[in-house]
Amino acid sequence: MPTRRATYFRSVFTMTARTKEDAAIYVPAERTLSVLRDAVQKCRGCDLYRYATQAVFGELETERNAAKPKVSIMMIGEQPGDTEDKEGRPFVGPAGRLLDQCLEEAGIDRRNVYVTNTVKHFKWEARGKLRIHKKPNMQEIHACRPWLEAELETLKPRLIVCLGAVAAQSLLGSDFKITQARGKVQQVEGFAPIIATLHPSAILRARTDEDRHRDRHILVVDLSVAARYLSRIKNRTASP
Ligand code: URA
Repeated sequence: MPTRRATYFRSVFTMTARTKEDAAIYVPAERTLSVLRDAVQKCRGCDLYRYATQAVFGELETERNAAKPKVSIMMIGEQPGDTEDKEGRPFVGPAGRLLDQCLEEAGIDRRNVYVTNTVKHFKWEARGKLRIHKKPNMQEIHACRPWLEAELETLKPRLIVCLGAVAAQSLLGSDFKITQARGKVQQVEGFAPIIATLHPSAILRARTDEDRHRDRHILVVDLSVAARYLSRIKNRTASP
């Protein structure tokens, strides 16, 4: 298994000066999902809250109200999309539906997967009547980091799956390339094992059907790696 010595402290976001504004002062000391979920609505750690309908915190489909639910996998996307922004829940739009199908094909029980995003507010630009996704910048990603850390600390997932470059680079460093290292288990000090793969939105945006089929297959393959890895670590901890 390849190991990657990208430590927490080497991460691009901690290299960004800590003096910059971030969400830390809005994150409550009490680490339960419901407390965090309420508090994130008051976050002013960056300006994105001004243009979003609401903050979208992570969730576990079947245990939305549990304080510290048991989580096997935490999946981290980029930021909520238009549908997620309106509904206040992560991965409930087209990308979420594709993710659900791929999880099923990979044999991962969606009920044990906590889904969240690197950035909790939708960043967009107007194109006519449409709100078009705009990639968050480094400062916004850095600002939102305390919420992601709070989720990781509260849930202690056994495996982290980063969907797309924004999530992957936030945990694995800015030089991490999905195309080169996707689908491989990465060990980073201070985190559960991490597997990075394609973002379902990128698959939906593929230019040709051929590209879309190929990328969808890649996502299923990488999620299958995650499923096998998880069952191996579960078996290891279960055996005497
Ligand atoms: N894309 C993401 O990264 N996250 C969502 O919640 C929806 C789309």
